[in-house]
Amino acid sequence: MTSERFYAESLAYDIAFSDRDFGEECNFLEWCLRTCGGEPAMHERSFLELAAGPARHAREFARRGWRSIGLDLSPDMLHYAEQSAQREGVRLELVHADMTHFSLEQPVALAANLMESFSHLLTNEQVVAHLRAVARNLLPGGVFVIEMAHPSTIWRDSLPNEWVSRSTDTSLFADVPFTEVEVLFGAQDDPYDCITQQWMVTTRLRIRTAGQPERVVEHHHPHRWYLAQELHALIDLSGAFSQTWWFGNMLIPPPPLDCGPASERMVVVLRK
Ligand SMILES: C[S@@+](CC[C@H](N)C(=O)[O-])C[C@H]1O[C@@H](n2cnc3c(N)ncnc32)[C@H](O)[C@@H]1O
Repeated sequence: MTSERFYAESLAYDIAFSDRDFGEECNFLEWCLRTCGGEPAMHERSFLELAAGPARHAREFARRGWRSIGLDLSPDMLHYAEQSAQREGVRLELVHADMTHFSLEQPVALAANLMESFSHLLTNEQVVAHLRAVARNLLPGGVFVIEMAHPSTIWRDSLPNEWVSRSTDTSLFADVPFTEVEVLFGAQDDPYDCITQQWMVTTRLRIRTAGQPERVVEHHHPHRWYLAQELHALIDLSGAFSQTWWFGNMLIPPPPLDCGPASERMVVVLRK
């Protein structure tokens, strides 16, 4: 078994986590700016995807004619996003930076931290630094959307979390040789530190590409998932936003964040 960094496997990651409707998610993000944004940002068309990974949302906004930026810490992910944007003929700006500390050349109207990438922020200080960094790079009236796991699911009693994805499962990988990725994201015996509230999460990708031997990439990385009230307190502490909305999914219109069945995610919308 080779042990390499999880996010260096950009294509396998993309295949493993692309069973989503990126167009619908971007429609929701646009709805957030129209509905929750203020002047002048609500009339601007600029988007920043934080911890962007393959930057599928940023690429979709670029396709819609927005100024669009993907920011990530991983050079491999940025390279993958750049190559993908070139192949698609869309203009994407890429920024290699830590999401807790960065400066864009021009502020944006809309920013998003999606699909639990927020769980890479491990301490209260990192969360506050991230919220302030995003706000510094937003236009007045700009909107920041955070999508996280619903608090009812963060104790991870459904572990191990395993599935298989194939490059043929969606139309997104037409140019890629047939690849199957068996994913483990969280093992049954992953340790949880009840003081730091961090999980040491096991991730494993078994990558089978036509004509090549199977590769196995395993990694252990700390994550922290947030409860609604602690996040509420950290947003207040940051002092960076003037208004907050809490939703239970990225639908138009979104359900409220509550303990009902329609509330599957924790989606926080912040206005500068
Ligand atoms: C779950 S993945 C990408 C998710 C992507 N937003 C999506 O919706 O598919 C998380 C990404 O966060 C990046 N990342 C982790 N810590 C980071 C940090 N401190 N600053 C910027 N990016 C970070 C990783 O390199 C990885 O590409």
